Amino acid sequence: MIAGNRPINYLRISVTDRCNFKCLYCVPSTPFSVIEHDKIARYEEILRITRLACELGITKVRITGGEPFVRKDIFSFLERLCAIESLKDISITTNGSLLTREKIKKLIALGIKRLNFSLDTLDPVKFARITGRDRFQQVRDAIFSAHDLGISPVKINTVILRGINDDEIEDLTALTINHPFHIRFIEYMPMGDSAVEKQQQILTREVQDKIESRFGKLVPFKRNANDGPAKKYQIENARGIVGFITPISSHFCSECNRLRLTSRGTLRPCLLNNYEEDILNPLRNGASDDELKQIIINTLTKKPSFHGLTDQVKKGIPISHMTSIGG
Ligand code: 5AD
Ligand code: SF4
Repeated sequence: MIAGNRPINYLRISVTDRCNFKCLYCVPSTPFSVIEHDKIARYEEILRITRLACELGITKVRITGGEPFVRKDIFSFLERLCAIESLKDISITTNGSLLTREKIKKLIALGIKRLNFSLDTLDPVKFARITGRDRFQQVRDAIFSAHDLGISPVKINTVILRGINDDEIEDLTALTINHPFHIRFIEYMPMGDSAVEKQQQILTREVQDKIESRFGKLVPFKRNANDGPAKKYQIENARGIVGFITPISSHFCSECNRLRLTSRGTLRPCLLNNYEEDILNPLRNGASDDELKQIIINTLTKKPSFHGLTDQVKKGIPISHMTSIGG
């Protein structure tokens, strides 16, 4: 599948809008309801859509949420997903809090080799303040177990906010000196109506300056064809990688190779643009494989060349919040 001049081979599947955490940059500050069970795509439905997307050229899938491991029977779903022949690469984004060593072993046995964790602090007290849950130790253990058990790479997503965790930029970066972790600093995106204030947003330049004044100039790391939007660097002689994801200060839309399937069964060509195409209801109403494939193709024709996030926010148009789209 092609959109603009870029091949689209990457599908991100959100299996649930629910999460056991309430990260302050993610969860809306006003009351919100979770989606009713019968409106969430069932596993068989997600698998059918995924198989059709694979016939159209998808080869990579990432499972996201909410938190994927809060969904019941997720392992039976992953097993069936991993059985799709043409899928070469299946990875998961997780907060790690429910991933015991045993569960990570199971993931590896299924053929899942890559995991992205979210971790914004190394301080258990601050962790509880940011996420709303006292689970630092479980997350830390999951990250280190994943590494011990051979998950590679272990990626760590971090959102830095002024006055919250900007004093930990250097300590988080230092993790890459002795461990082959990829730590990725993601610029806070104002989505939905989170409690984060505009002045708490920190752009990559400032984060990178702090890192370089502690560790010296970062060395650019060579990019692979299949790389995502992170700009990668290394501290000299470090084992791991420091990445920067810059949706705000420098958008990377023209290189974006992704399509998203939300837990409500809508296809979304862009995270930061509210356009969606319903595929679940046509599927439930008996659409044929060809009709469903046409919906996938139609969605891609709507893939924007630029997300227009800042314009949309300036105009006061809210962007759906992350838990309902799945990161
Ligand atoms: N801005 C930037 N990143 C966010 N994430 C969640 N909400 C936001 C936001 N508003 C990131 C978290 C998590 C991933 C799933 O999405 O870092 O790792
Ligand atoms: Fe792609 Fe949308 Fe992200 Fe831009 S904002 S990179 S178009 S998903």
